[in-house]
Amino acid sequence: MDPAMQTHCVLLLNLPPSALGGIDLLSFTTTPRFRGVKNLPPGLHFLFASSDATVSVRHGAWFYVSPGTGSPQVFIKKWDPTTEDLVAETSQSEVLRWKANLGSIWKDGLTPYRQIVSSDSKEEGEAVEESPDWAELTSRINPSLLSRITGLNPDHWSLSSASSAPQDLENIPGLESSNSFLHPEKELNLLPIDLKRTWRLGATGSERTEAAQDRSWALGDLIENHCKARDPRGGEDEVLGEVQFCFLMVLTLNNNSCLEQWKRLLTLLFTCQKAVRERTHMFVELCKTLRLQLSHCADMEAGMFDLNEQGGGFLKPLLRKFRRTLEELEGDWKKRLVKEFDELQEYVRDVFGWELDDSYVKRGMLELEDGERVEMEVNGADEDDEKGEFAPLVVDLTPTQMKELYPSGSEHQESGEEEADAADLEDMDTRY
Ligand SMILES: *[C@@H]1O[C@H](CO)[C@@H](O)[C@H](O)[C@H]1NC(C)=O
Repeated sequence: MDPAMQTHCVLLLNLPPSALGGIDLLSFTTTPRFRGVKNLPPGLHFLFASSDATVSVRHGAWFYVSPGTGSPQVFIKKWDPTTEDLVAETSQSEVLRWKANLGSIWKDGLTPYRQIVSSDSKEEGEAVEESPDWAELTSRINPSLLSRITGLNPDHWSLSSASSAPQDLENIPGLESSNSFLHPEKELNLLPIDLKRTWRLGATGSERTEAAQDRSWALGDLIENHCKARDPRGGEDEVLGEVQFCFLMVLTLNNNSCLEQWKRLLTLLFTCQKAVRERTHMFVELCKTLRLQLSHCADMEAGMFDLNEQGGGFLKPLLRKFRRTLEELEGDWKKRLVKEFDELQEYVRDVFGWELDDSYVKRGMLELEDGERVEMEVNGADEDDEKGEFAPLVVDLTPTQMKELYPSGSEHQESGEEEADAADLEDMDTRY
């Protein structure tokens, strides 16, 4: 190989035969001569692998190809068969040896990174990306976000999918320890979102009720007190960056913790009202981001994002709610947002058959134990797909009925509030 022809590349070494390899949006079964991917464009990339295509445990790492005209960057990752993990090559002598020998694997061992599928050039083991969307799907992910979430490990921000969900492990004696020996749980430092408490500490009755219905306070708290970015726009981008990160970690690794966080983030965002006005730009970008994300999970394994469930899983009720919020807000400022939301709405109608029009949804008053009345929505009985999981949950209770349900007098205020919140939550996703 003429060294002048060399490009940025990542080596993926020691894989067992016919392992699964992947970079960004594409994955492939590796051939025996596969050693990695060349012609990497600058920017963030996500490399992942699994010992074979049928096992569900995958390991991956983000790394950053710096732009600029310096010498080509070479990243070296290897499969560690004893821990079944993807690790960075840290031995300097190994790194030097591989760099010196790149010529011997360049032509046959490294597959070119591609952006666009061209159907007749698709060879076995060749990395062909299905679309040019990677850059857009990662537009707000950056090294500082990756370091916050996965720990400070530049060019090897790693994570994986657990072999079993924690709740499964509990029931299988012995498995937990052996599993955690192989893959010790690594805590992801995701933004702390507690949808059951979206008000400030010390908030009183009506403030809590309001904050359970309009989660703007909780969003502001995340942006101001939990994001690394110090300026407001930076914080908003960081929240959107986490929406992007979590989505991709479900898409590529099927990491369930990230799925739950993706759902929490979207639930928080789409149940904001005041913030829509104050952070319009963020919501415009959110609608764009979500539309692009949905276009990448439309043909995924059924149910991975819970979107194929009857009633559209968690997302459809959320989007309906957000549509209503938008309708209730007045002013020219919302034009761009309405336009973006309309495109999103059209997309989910065309692809998932979701009707976000809520002309069926009725409103009702929920009277709390302390006599306070909270407006809630009640789904019309005549709309078929609102039966089942999202069947009407809210009924008008008389104060006496409330007392019967919550007899404890001492927790008077407390239980009334919590009920309002629980009802609001259940209205959107019964699993929270
Ligand atoms: C998600 O990734 C983290 C970090 O690698 C890991 O500890 C955790 O077990 C994964 N969770 C699931 C459910 O896959």
